[in-house]
Amino acid sequence: MQQAWLNGEWCKLDEARISPLDRGFLFGDGVYEVIPVYNRKVFALGPHLKRLQHSLSATRIPNPYTDDDWRKLCHDLIQRHPWTNQSLYIQVTRGLQPKRDHTPENCLVPTVFAYSNELTPLPESLLQTGIRCITVEDIRWMRCDIKAITLLPNIMMKMAAQEAGADDAILMRNGMVVEGTASNVMIVESHTLVTPPLDHCLLGGITRQVLLHVAKESGLEVKEEPISLLRLHQADEIWLTSSTKEALPVVEIDGQAVGKGVPGPIWKQMRAAYAAAKKRFVEAYDE
Ligand code: PDD
Repeated sequence: MQQAWLNGEWCKLDEARISPLDRGFLFGDGVYEVIPVYNRKVFALGPHLKRLQHSLSATRIPNPYTDDDWRKLCHDLIQRHPWTNQSLYIQVTRGLQPKRDHTPENCLVPTVFAYSNELTPLPESLLQTGIRCITVEDIRWMRCDIKAITLLPNIMMKMAAQEAGADDAILMRNGMVVEGTASNVMIVESHTLVTPPLDHCLLGGITRQVLLHVAKESGLEVKEEPISLLRLHQADEIWLTSSTKEALPVVEIDGQAVGKGVPGPIWKQMRAAYAAAKKRFVEAYDE
């Protein structure tokens, strides 16, 4: 049975209850993190906690815990579940407010909810075939650097992609690639890895950060620069990156094959380099 941490107490996940007057429920007024665990060790916790703090500071929700409290919570979540690899979900909302009002009352107590899922590797068949994407106009707000729980536009864009017969969407703003519906985007142009630079329109993905580091270490040239639709269409490889997918190859974009229409050689090389980086991390892990 999965367990949940809700406002300072453990309970069975299916027995966890919040008030409908919680601002997270009424307004989507909250932020979250998804943190991968490999071999029962939290991966890149520091960067995840830094991003959580960024989301909380930007939304002016007080951080209810110290980094050590968060570390302990992650550790306890892992201990309470049997899986070797897990995906920890942490959510902080501005809290319960009895009177519905857009303006938050002072002195609200943030609601903290956390639970764990098994992190299963993507099916080998998916990695063999890759996925198909279409480009869509990004309909989200101008603060996508905040990992907000308010994901309705992401859901609508993903549904639009699936209704069009694709697996996912790559979001465009002013003719430039932004990111995926729940991932960052990277392209390969001959031997160079290119990804859009960070700004308020996209999330600073931790997988993006680690992959860029690993790519540089492996001698790949890495560029953070704007990617036009033409460049996306002419890329040799396209990947979606996230904590749950790592790097997922896109083999078709807007109905056209990407490169040879199969997962590319640089993706294969980077997948191996990323796996090696995870292994080094697990071996060097010191609590
Ligand atoms: N989402 N961009 C968006 C919009 C995302 O939702 C995510 C991840 C990323 C990649 O971030 P990271 O590499 O830190 O996982 C980029 C998570 C996995 C989710 O919502 O489930």
